[in-house]
Amino acid sequence: MGLWDKRDDMLVHQTEPYNAEPPPGALAGHLTPLDTFYSRNHGPVPRIDPARWRLRVDGLVERMLELSLDELRRRFSEHQVVATLQCAGNRRADLMAFRDIPGQVPWGPAAVSTARWTGVRLAEVLAGAGLRDGAAHIAFTGGDLTVSTTPAQPFGGSVPVAKALSGEVLLAWGINGRPLPAAHGAPLRVVVPGWIGARSVKWLQRVTARAEVSDNHFHAEYSILPPDAHPRGTGIVLGPLALHCAILRPGAGSRLPAGPTEVSGYALAGDDRTVTRVDVSRDHGRTWVQAELDPPENPWTWQHWRTTLTLPAGEAELLARAWDSTAAVQPESAATVWNPRGYANNSWARVYFTCHP
Ligand code: MTE
Repeated sequence: MGLWDKRDDMLVHQTEPYNAEPPPGALAGHLTPLDTFYSRNHGPVPRIDPARWRLRVDGLVERMLELSLDELRRRFSEHQVVATLQCAGNRRADLMAFRDIPGQVPWGPAAVSTARWTGVRLAEVLAGAGLRDGAAHIAFTGGDLTVSTTPAQPFGGSVPVAKALSGEVLLAWGINGRPLPAAHGAPLRVVVPGWIGARSVKWLQRVTARAEVSDNHFHAEYSILPPDAHPRGTGIVLGPLALHCAILRPGAGSRLPAGPTEVSGYALAGDDRTVTRVDVSRDHGRTWVQAELDPPENPWTWQHWRTTLTLPAGEAELLARAWDSTAAVQPESAATVWNPRGYANNSWARVYFTCHP
C-alpha cells in the first residue's frame, strides 16, 4: 500500500500536500476502487474527531443550524448518487507540452474518478435552515489549511442556489459503501456532480447562504484567463465541467504487438449533458471510427467507450473526440484551449505508442 492507502503504482505528483492520480489503465471500471481514486489537496489532510465535529449552516437563513453527524443522519433521509469527480486541472500535462505552466501540478488524464456517494441532500439541509430572500449562492468552507496562500486559509468555494438545491448535490459521509477516508474529506464532504472537483469541498465545516459568490481565495482561483493574460489576473470562474474524453488503453509510451488492438477510454460531458458519440482516428484525424459507447447512468457520470483497430508496426498516434447531447464536439488542439493556469483542457485525446511486428 502507498500513502493514504492508495495503490503502490499511483503517480504521486506531491506527497505533502498529497496529490496523486492512478495509472490511466486502472480507470477502466465504472466505479473507481478507493485505493485507485485520485486525490487533490491544497494543504495537509486534517485529522478531524468525528465525535466533536459540527456542521454549521449560517448566512442568509431563517434558522442557523449546528449539526453533529448523528443529527445530520437522523434529521435527513439518506441518499446515494453515482457521480464522477474530476479536477479542473485534469490533462494539464497536455497543455504544458504546448507551453509551460509554472507552479501547477502536471496532471495526466487520471485526475478523475467515479464513486457511489452516500449522504444527505444539501437541498434538504438548506430547507431545514430556511433560505432567506436574497440568498443566491451557497458557500462551503473546509477544515484544512492550504499551503499556497499567505496567511494559510481553509479551502472553500460556492455554487449558485439553483445547483445547490438540485437533488444530486450531497453532503456525503460514504463512498462506494465505505466510510469516507480522511484523504477524501472525512467526516463529511460536499459532492457537486457535473461541476469541477474544486466545488466538492472536503472536511466540510460550514455552509453559508450568501447574496454573492464565495470570497474564498480558491473560488476565484479556479478560473480561465485568456492566453495572453497575467496568470494572477481575474478570470472567468469555472463551474460545470467541459466536455472531454481520454484514451486509457493503449497507455501513452507503451509497446504492444501490431494487429488488432482494443482502444478504450472514458468520456464525460459535464453539467447536465451526456456523451452521445466518441470517434477514434489512427491517421491524424483524416478518418474516424465510431467507438462503442456505454449508455449514460446519469448526466454526472463518465461513460466508457471502446473499439478495435488494426494497427501496423511502427510509431502510432491515436486521437479520440467526444460529442455531447447538445451536439457540441471537443476542440482539436491543446493550443486553442491553453490558458495561464492550465484548467479545463478539453481538447481531443491523443496518445503516442509503439507497435512491434
Ligand atoms: N476541499 C478541501 N477542503 N481542500 C482541498 O484541497 N480540493 C478540491 C476538492 N475539495 C480540496 C477540496 C479539488 S481541487 C478537487 S479536484 C477535489 O476536492 C478532489 O477530491 P478527492 O481528493 O477526494 O479526489
